[in-house]
Amino acid sequence: MTNDALWYKDAIIYELPVKSFCDGNADGIGDFKGLHEKLDYLQALGVNCLWLLPFFPSPLKDDGYDIAAYTSVHPAYGTLDDFKAFLDAAHARGMRVVIELVLNHTSDQHPWFQRARSAPPGSPERDYYVWSDTDRRFEGVRIIFVDAERSNWTWDPVAQAYYWHRFFHHQPDLNYDNPAVVREMLAVLDFWLDMGVDGLRLDAVPYLVEREHTSCENLPETHALIKAIRRHVDAATPGRMLLAEANQLPADVRAYFGDGDECHMAYHFPVMPRIFMGLHAEDRQPIVDAMEQTPPIPENCQWALFLRNHDELTLEMVTDDERDYMYLAYSLDPQARLNLGIRRRLAPLVGNNRRRIELLNALLFSFPGTPIVYYGDEIGMGDNLYLGDRNGVRTPMQWTGDRNAGFSRADAARLYSPLITDPVYGYPAVNVEAEESDTASLLHWMRNMIRLRRQFKVFGRGTIEFLSPANRKVLAYVRRYRDDIILCVANLSRTVQPAELDLGAFDGMVPVEMLGYTEFPAIGSLPYFLTLGPYGFYWFELQRPGR
Ligand code: NOJ
Ligand code: CA
Repeated sequence: MTNDALWYKDAIIYELPVKSFCDGNADGIGDFKGLHEKLDYLQALGVNCLWLLPFFPSPLKDDGYDIAAYTSVHPAYGTLDDFKAFLDAAHARGMRVVIELVLNHTSDQHPWFQRARSAPPGSPERDYYVWSDTDRRFEGVRIIFVDAERSNWTWDPVAQAYYWHRFFHHQPDLNYDNPAVVREMLAVLDFWLDMGVDGLRLDAVPYLVEREHTSCENLPETHALIKAIRRHVDAATPGRMLLAEANQLPADVRAYFGDGDECHMAYHFPVMPRIFMGLHAEDRQPIVDAMEQTPPIPENCQWALFLRNHDELTLEMVTDDERDYMYLAYSLDPQARLNLGIRRRLAPLVGNNRRRIELLNALLFSFPGTPIVYYGDEIGMGDNLYLGDRNGVRTPMQWTGDRNAGFSRADAARLYSPLITDPVYGYPAVNVEAEESDTASLLHWMRNMIRLRRQFKVFGRGTIEFLSPANRKVLAYVRRYRDDIILCVANLSRTVQPAELDLGAFDGMVPVEMLGYTEFPAIGSLPYFLTLGPYGFYWFELQRPGR
């Protein structure tokens, strides 16, 4: 692994739930032993950073985001020693590991909550959480899981008081006005960073602190807390990365970078739905607008880019019109809608159209930021809209066409989730083994693209400028870093398109298509003319003649 403190800028992140990846002990649930066995696969894919969803002891009512103990491993996934062995093995392969730090809330089964509810009001133990005699405090604060919860307050018969929760009612929010809570969480963070974990995803970070007559989101007190966390990490374990999960408007997300003294990374929530909008509308404008409205970020910071993840495709931060548009475009089946979003995987979202899948990934891999690939999307896995909540996008990884998709040797009835079995996306049709033996498969294409992207630092570190060809179905942009210049051109439409690009600034340079290393005619003073096939895209390295 490099010693570069900015390693996260050159990373390709692979997101995975341990339970869904590979079952090493045949009990029907994925575990660290299974994941360990699959590191060769991940290395061959070319990703160099793994982001693991929560694997801690938990009643699993929110798939582990309801934590009951912060410094151990859920027994279904193995032991702490299994985790350490996996971590060392990942490091030995040059892969970094990012895990979850769920700061905002715990499970109601956590001993802190059990202790708090029976402790006297006003005691330090009670004050680990946010209590109230009425459910009228912090009125007007939005509810996030609108399909499941009616209020952010729930009555606790033991405490004889209401407690505050921004997510499910079984996830009480911790009280960050209590210094003991801050100390506890810093100890949790030290525990994992001392073990060698490379980064922490700060789950639900905008909601840490509450104040009356505010939205209780993005408050200055919350930012002060993140700065304190960052100082602590930099002092104790420099070189580790903090990733903010802040599903907010662009200016509000920007604030989580601070002056380069809060989080190193933050998800680019605003651009993701606009990429899908641009694709459906066959018009670059939503994408260009979202990118141009992206505020600049400090030198040491980086956007985390994604197409899909383990949650619904969130439409919380788009306008009502945009949300209606997205629902119509991408979820004609109302069963696909959940909360303010769409619970589908990448392939089914785009009608399993291979060209669209490739185009979207080509954008993901060439936009400024660090790309995240969601497990299974590299082979075009499907989903199951009938599994409830977001479980339909968390089904077992499809390794082979054999029993249980090669995921587990347990009885099929014991699997933590049914497999995808439909004729299009079912494991007999879509699986790693088959795609490994088919050089034309999506998996091979993804490996190729990931390798290519890793050869050029400009993708992770460079600037972006958009060109404005008259044809709005064409999205064209230039990425630059030091002496490297890359021109990306994409056709967002289903039909062949012409593009006339103003490349006057690069007069005399030679575009070399990067997948085939094919030289194109040199750029002259006239507009540069290209033809793009349906959903076609090109990456060109602009070279000086004779280089
Ligand atoms: C965001 C996570 O991505 C989601 O899966 C979870 O339900 C909420 N935070 C609550 O922790
Ligand atoms: Ca297992």
